[in-house]
Formats: sequence, structure tokens, C-alpha cells
Amino acid sequence: MTTSKNSLSKKWWKEQIIYQIYPRSFFDSDGDGIGDLNGIIEKLDYIKSLGVTAVWVNPFYASPNDDNGYDISDYRKIMDEFGDMNDFDEMIKGFHQRGIKFIMDLVVNHSSDEHEWFKQSRSSRYNLYRDYYHWWPAEKGKPNHRFSYFDEKGDAWKYDQQTDSYYLHYFSAKQPDLNWENPELRREIYDIMHFWAKKGVDGFRLDAFQFISKDTTFPAFPEGYQDDVVDVIKHHGMGPTLHNHIREMNQEVLSKYEVFAVSEGAGSSFEDAHSLVDEDRNELHMVYHFEGVEIGNGLDDPHTLADFKEVHSKWEEAFKDKGWISIFLANHDVPRMVSRFGNDSDEFRAVSSKMLNTFILTMRGTPYCYFGDELGMKNIYFEDINEYQDIAAINGYKKALSEGKDMQKFMQNLRFYSRDNSRTPMQWDNTENAGFTSGSPWISVNSDYKEVNVASQENRADSVLNHFRTLTKLRTENDILVYGVYQQVEPDHPHIYAYTRSLDNQTWLVILSFVETDANLKLPNNMQTFEIQANNYSQLSIDDGWLKLKPYQAVVLSQKE
Ligand code: NOJ
Repeated sequence: MTTSKNSLSKKWWKEQIIYQIYPRSFFDSDGDGIGDLNGIIEKLDYIKSLGVTAVWVNPFYASPNDDNGYDISDYRKIMDEFGDMNDFDEMIKGFHQRGIKFIMDLVVNHSSDEHEWFKQSRSSRYNLYRDYYHWWPAEKGKPNHRFSYFDEKGDAWKYDQQTDSYYLHYFSAKQPDLNWENPELRREIYDIMHFWAKKGVDGFRLDAFQFISKDTTFPAFPEGYQDDVVDVIKHHGMGPTLHNHIREMNQEVLSKYEVFAVSEGAGSSFEDAHSLVDEDRNELHMVYHFEGVEIGNGLDDPHTLADFKEVHSKWEEAFKDKGWISIFLANHDVPRMVSRFGNDSDEFRAVSSKMLNTFILTMRGTPYCYFGDELGMKNIYFEDINEYQDIAAINGYKKALSEGKDMQKFMQNLRFYSRDNSRTPMQWDNTENAGFTSGSPWISVNSDYKEVNVASQENRADSVLNHFRTLTKLRTENDILVYGVYQQVEPDHPHIYAYTRSLDNQTWLVILSFVETDANLKLPNNMQTFEIQANNYSQLSIDDGWLKLKPYQAVVLSQKE
């Protein structure tokens, strides 16, 4: 029997199971083809039935929607298409009545160019709001190159004639970066956070947060730095004043409420990540690192199970005594989980989705489950550039075209990796538009909705949906899955990812097969007698101490004395 002491302190936010809702695509209550807050309200009981304990809803502030709400024109107003503040109040009340926490997306690395601050700022070099953004006067010549994610030319400096200056935008030209070196700006941001915290939000997800602090002398960066994700983070992110700003934010806002804050991104090293969230730092609470969704990031760069195990194990190891991480396999910026890490063929979509959900809900770290993954929703795989809605896809296409790139290859990659894959509407039933809207949906519905939808899975005991519910219940009722020490079993197994979780004299074993053939694993000595806590098949075969796993079989076993 193993005795494993958990060195990590217990915290309510470590124990959450977070469900991520992309509001534009969740449920449309008024027939305009766009999901809305009332749509979420109508589905509160469904969300509760999933067994999740918190939701993170992507931005719903007033926005011209250049980047679907990540370009905010008023931080205290709700986007017209989504409803109004009364709807927000009712929505958060509905969540709280059901015991579900609410996490707000806080987008304060940049605003919209239609925000009043920016309108003022660009109007004159002497305007009071001038220093809310980063400006470079044209008489100093063109500033050193900065890379922009969504710009048609990849250029983060945009010339603005009105004041004969360039402004900085790491994302689209309609998302100017805010100048965090200005204390007035910081004060405004903290006021906004107080506003929402007083409305009862339980947490903030800090969008693009590692980028808020920049070297404002804007020195030259090595040529081509943008081609490597880690280099971009190194140069754009984790700037010299970052920790001062976060500590100030913690003192001014976070420490005054029962809220937690998760940082999107984790710097470019474990030290960076720890510096953001270790308890003795008094900064943020958990990191949301990207390495898990950066493996196999392109058709030329396929990932193996060994890569998958390595990434998750090394983060686990680095955070075993201190700090806290998030666990996720998908969100609104990456392809669907089953299309990327599982197998989305008709034969294996359901079973491999269940396997991946087993992974997310049995690892240490706070799980983030992306809406639709509880059903096994898969990529839409658009063929034609005109079908895409995402600015990253559309401007990325223009950029590739102007650079003379191989467009066939570009489109093949986009088809698989586009963010639109995970933004298609939630599949509620088999009626027109998957029951998402009575109007014309803002983005196409995946054509598999007749088979893959909530209604068809609701009453089937073996559905992906009900398996998801089994797992959330298991995690909520068993601290071992939250805090238990993680250890890999047979780390070199080419087809199986197996690990134990141990806490207070108890050991559980999680076994996940990642292949579409049968696979075998020798049961460890201390697990010869066990109880099955979860299984994505109705049976588990054992032969002479060997587990005989079916394709993508996933089991959770608890050791029996
Ligand atoms: C990260 C968000 O997740 C993404 O959707 C957005 O486009 C960028 N930040 C810019 O806000």
C-alpha cells in the first residue's frame, strides 16, 4: 500500500470543474442566429446536469466584434446581440442558485479601437487619454518591427494619420494595446474589476495577460522571432514591470474578494509560470499553459502519444509541490479535442471522446471542459475560405497569399487547425440548425448534428454525455482525483497512457488507450484487486494479470485492500 502525502494546500478553486461556454455559439434565444445570455439562462439546468461546478463564459461586453468580443468598446456594457445588464444579472443569479461559480473573461491587454479611450487617444497628441495606448511619433522613423497575430501583413504597428503616429496592436488593428505603464489606465482597469466583482463574479480569466508589460523603448528583436511561439512569448510577454502590475492588481482587487484569477499563458519557462502563481508571490492563482495544445501544431508536425505524455507529465512534475495548473485539451482557439487527440471517425468518435474526457477529469490541476466536448463534437473542416468567419483565418489567408505561400498547403492546415472548428453551434437536437437557432446561424452548423446532439444522448446510459456526467461526479466526490499525487505507470508504453493518483493510503489507477486496435497492460502489483470506478466500455477483460484493452478504452480503477 502506498502512502502519499499531498503537499499542496486545499483551495476551493482547485476543486472546480470548469465548463467553458462560447456564448455566440451556445444557444440563440431570439432567432437572430447568434447565441445570447438568455440562451445561456434557458440552458442553466442542462449545465447544472453536467456536474460541472463553474463556468467560464467568453467575452460578452459591448464590442464591434472584430475578434468576436475580444475587442471591447465598453467594459461595463453587454454586447447588443447578447442582451443587456438585466440578462447578465439574471444569468449570474441563475448560476449561483445552482451552486455554479462564474468566471469572467477579462480582456485588458487591449481594447477595441472603438472604445472611447482610444477615440480620445488618437484625436490629439495632447489628449488626456493619449498615454492609455502605445504611440510612436512618425518623425522618429518607423518603429522596430513587432509581430501582430491577426494583421494582414503581420505588422503590429499601424500608422494613424490624424496624429502622424503609429499605434501598437499585437492582435488585430482594431485591438490597440493598452499602456499598462500608465497608472491612470491601471486604476481604470481595477475599477472595472471592482464593478464585476461586486456583481458577484467568482473569478477572472486574464486574456493575453503575459503581454501587458512591454519594454516601451521598443528595442529591435531578432529577425524572424515570430516564427517560434516560445520566442514570441519571450519577446512580447513577461515584460519588466509585469509582476509589479500583478501584485498591485492583487492588492487592489483580487485580495478584497473571494475570487481567483487564471492567467492565459504561462510565460516561456517553468520559472515564469511559477512566478505568476506560487502562493507566496501573492499574484495570480493558476496558470493556463499552452504546451498541451501546441504539440502537433500543423499537419507537418504530427504528435505522438509519447509527446502527449511528456508534456503533461513534465508540467505535473514541475507543479507537484507548489503552484497550480489548468488541464484542458480544447478551447475556442484550437481544433476540437476529439479531432486532434482522439479519432473523429464514425467508429471511434464516441469512445475516444470518452477517453479524452477521462484524461481531463482525472488529472491534477483544474479541468476546463469546452462546450460540446461532453457530446464528442468534432471539427467542421471547412473547405472554402468564404466559409470561415474568424479574423485569424481570413487575415491569415490574405497574408499567406500576399507572401506567395503554397495556398493548397495553407488551406489544408487551416481546415484542420482553424479556430472556427471549435466555434460551430452547440448541437442540441436533430431539428434544423441542431436546435441552436430558429434563424440563420452566424457560422455553419456541423452536418453531423443529426447523430451527435444532446437530445439523442440524454437518455442513453452509454452516451458520451452520460459518461461525462459519471466522471464529473467521480471527481467531485473523490478528493484523490483533485489532490492525489500523480505517477506514471509504464511511461514508455507506445499505446497506453497510465498513471496512478494516490492520497492518504489510497491509490487509483487511470488507464487510457490511445489506439484503434487492442492493447495490453500488465496490472501493477499493488492493483491486483480493484474496483472499477469508470469505464467507457461495458466490460474490462483481464487475463493472467494483463488488462486487455479495447480501442480507446479508458478505465479508472480504485485499489481494493
Ligand atoms: C486570446 C483569446 O483566447 C483569443 O480568442 C483572442 O483572439 C486573443 N486572446 C486576443 O484577445
